[in-house]
Amino acid sequence: MADKEKICRHVAIIMDGNGRWAEAQGLPRADGHRRGAERVSDVMKAAKKCGVKYLTLYAFSTENWKRSPMEINAIMSLLGEFLDNKLPDLQKEGISLRTVGRTDELPSFVRKKLYRVIDATKNNKNGVLNLALNYGGRAEIVDAVNKILTDKSRKNNEITEADFGRYLYAPDLPDPDLMIRTSGELRLSNFLLWELSYSELYVTEKLWPDFGEEDFIKAVESFGGRKRRFGGREEK
Ligand code: FPP
Repeated sequence: MADKEKICRHVAIIMDGNGRWAEAQGLPRADGHRRGAERVSDVMKAAKKCGVKYLTLYAFSTENWKRSPMEINAIMSLLGEFLDNKLPDLQKEGISLRTVGRTDELPSFVRKKLYRVIDATKNNKNGVLNLALNYGGRAEIVDAVNKILTDKSRKNNEITEADFGRYLYAPDLPDPDLMIRTSGELRLSNFLLWELSYSELYVTEKLWPDFGEEDFIKAVESFGGRKRRFGGREEK
């Protein structure tokens, strides 16, 4: 098998277990999210070490609005803080910030900070930190279909998979090679339903606030040991 098939360019992560981590120590759930937000820098460092260029993090799903207003506010404030504090580091490392999701429905203070950082980092070329915010895999597919229906430049009715992909939120990003989920749940939870079709899955029992650089490296190394066949036969 050609070596290039084992290169892990894009890792997507479901950062699960913040609430359980906090509850286990008798802390409010918001403390789990704070600790979880701190882990993002570690994982970015580990991604750099492993040569992973694209990192997509599931930070807030379309379903997360069902949580208490207090918890939603805590997550939104952490996002705001993260966006305020992270800009110098993103510039230093040459990483551009991107988002996928219905970001127009986020609180305006988050949107403002988000668009400011996206704009400031848009020409950075070393890597991409892609935050899934108010993201749902089904919503993304529905949004793509609606874009197709209103695209006046389309000439025929037939659509191919490649065509369809161009209407998704981030058509220029490669599909994730590896999807990591922390805290042991064996579910996709509406994350990147289209893009994860051929991704390798790695689930660890560790809760997200306990997930560090070494854990990320271990996950990427496990990917290197697997063979991807994309539905075809294994090459000799
Ligand atoms: C899942 O844990 C985590 C979330 C729903 C929110 C993730 C948010 C952060 C890590 C903070 C903000 C993000 C950034 C990028 C700064 P859970 O609450 O579902 O945990 P549980 O399943 O144990 O309850």
